[in-house]
Amino acid sequence: MIADTVLCNAKVYTKRGIVQAGIAIEGDKIAKISKETNLPPACNRVNLDGCLALPGMIDSHVHLRGQLLSSREDFSTGTSAAVAGGITTVLDMPNNKPVTKDSTSLKERILHAERSIVANVGFLSAFPERLQEIEHIVRAGAVAFKVYLTDDVGGLDIDDDELMSKALLKTSAYGVPVAVHAEDGQAIHALTKREQRLGHKNLDAYLKVHSPKVETKAVKRILSIANQSNSQIHICHITSLDAVSLVKRARTDGLSVSCEITPHHLFLTLADLRKHGTRALTDPPLRSNRIVEHLWDAVRKHDIDIIASDHAPHTRAGKEAESIWDVSPGIPGLETLLPLFLTKVNEGHLALKNLIRMTSERPAEVFHLQNEGHLEVGYKANITVVDLHKTGQIEASRFHSKAKYSPFDHIQVKGLPAKTFVNGQLVMDNGEVVARRGIGRVLRSKARK
Ligand code: NCD
Ligand code: ZN
Ligand code: ZN
Ligand code: ZN
Repeated sequence: MIADTVLCNAKVYTKRGIVQAGIAIEGDKIAKISKETNLPPACNRVNLDGCLALPGMIDSHVHLRGQLLSSREDFSTGTSAAVAGGITTVLDMPNNKPVTKDSTSLKERILHAERSIVANVGFLSAFPERLQEIEHIVRAGAVAFKVYLTDDVGGLDIDDDELMSKALLKTSAYGVPVAVHAEDGQAIHALTKREQRLGHKNLDAYLKVHSPKVETKAVKRILSIANQSNSQIHICHITSLDAVSLVKRARTDGLSVSCEITPHHLFLTLADLRKHGTRALTDPPLRSNRIVEHLWDAVRKHDIDIIASDHAPHTRAGKEAESIWDVSPGIPGLETLLPLFLTKVNEGHLALKNLIRMTSERPAEVFHLQNEGHLEVGYKANITVVDLHKTGQIEASRFHSKAKYSPFDHIQVKGLPAKTFVNGQLVMDNGEVVARRGIGRVLRSKARK
């Protein structure tokens, strides 16, 4: 056998621990992991300089935008940002223009993506107006559905429990998960109106509206609806401690439920929000020191399944407005996630094993991404190579994302992605994106049909 590529001089993260080995790649798959002397000859040998080869990072919450929102981000810049940040697979959210909410809009989006992606992309769809359409969305390839409990982003009336229950029942029949933006819409609208009537338009008014309580309320509601439908629920960007407890309890009660946390909700607090102002505004907003400390505890106790960036790029104008109600919430995060958490690993505040579980293993399990999440023979050759010893500084002006700002700009980090391999191909080398456009693949649901 002659392999296509052999990665040599590496430390390889496997289920059996970190081993001094090389990796042989054939096509887009891992063919062998072994001592270098036992690896087959290869057309292409890449020296990893003693760096650590990790299972490809999967970011399960990304807004790639594109189409009519391409001034914020597009498929090429968004996936370039991903691989530059050491991320090999991203899951794209449906709040686009046009909104991903039926098989037509999903197919159109896939067509646009296929031409230009350099990372693998799975698509989430919002719910359609007609529940029969759910089947067609799944057949068109959606890996999951997404529901925003704040607003009718798709075609489903989110205030109608019975309809919601029917929609969840359908998704459970096809075995696809439902990701949830959990902030209670009715509460948000009522509170916003009250603040606006009082003429309040600053950060404090925004924080009053988007409280942890509003989040807890939404989580409670969706879990009780899910309870009747036996569907799989994934709570996005969790920041409320009560919500974390509810998820934990529901899981103990046998519900299929998971949750995710973002880097910004772990690394930043209200003090940072006040310092950075609207640039650091996101939904849910950054939380107090006390909450953030407890969220870290939840991460260390495995109560939170996934770390996801919620990469939400906006134009500079979108991040600046006189009134807080006119500011677009969202923080770009694809290029800062891994350096931030590797720094924590280096500081001894987070086990590498826990990081890999939350950024690769669990995302693959929760979203049913086959042959991803581990470095094993037969698995996809999606590989994130990191240099744990390299120090650097976050430099937002050099982001591949169109959103060249970050609340993490200029901070010091230790541990950086060095090389990224997608589908067996080197796509990022030492910070430079070296991929051919379109090398990424669209991941399709393996749903029961
Ligand atoms: C997201 C966006 O900009 O699309 N914004 C955000 O504040 N997180 C939407 C979302 O994830 O709720
Ligand atoms: Zn088009
Ligand atoms: Zn959200
Ligand atoms: Zn989001």
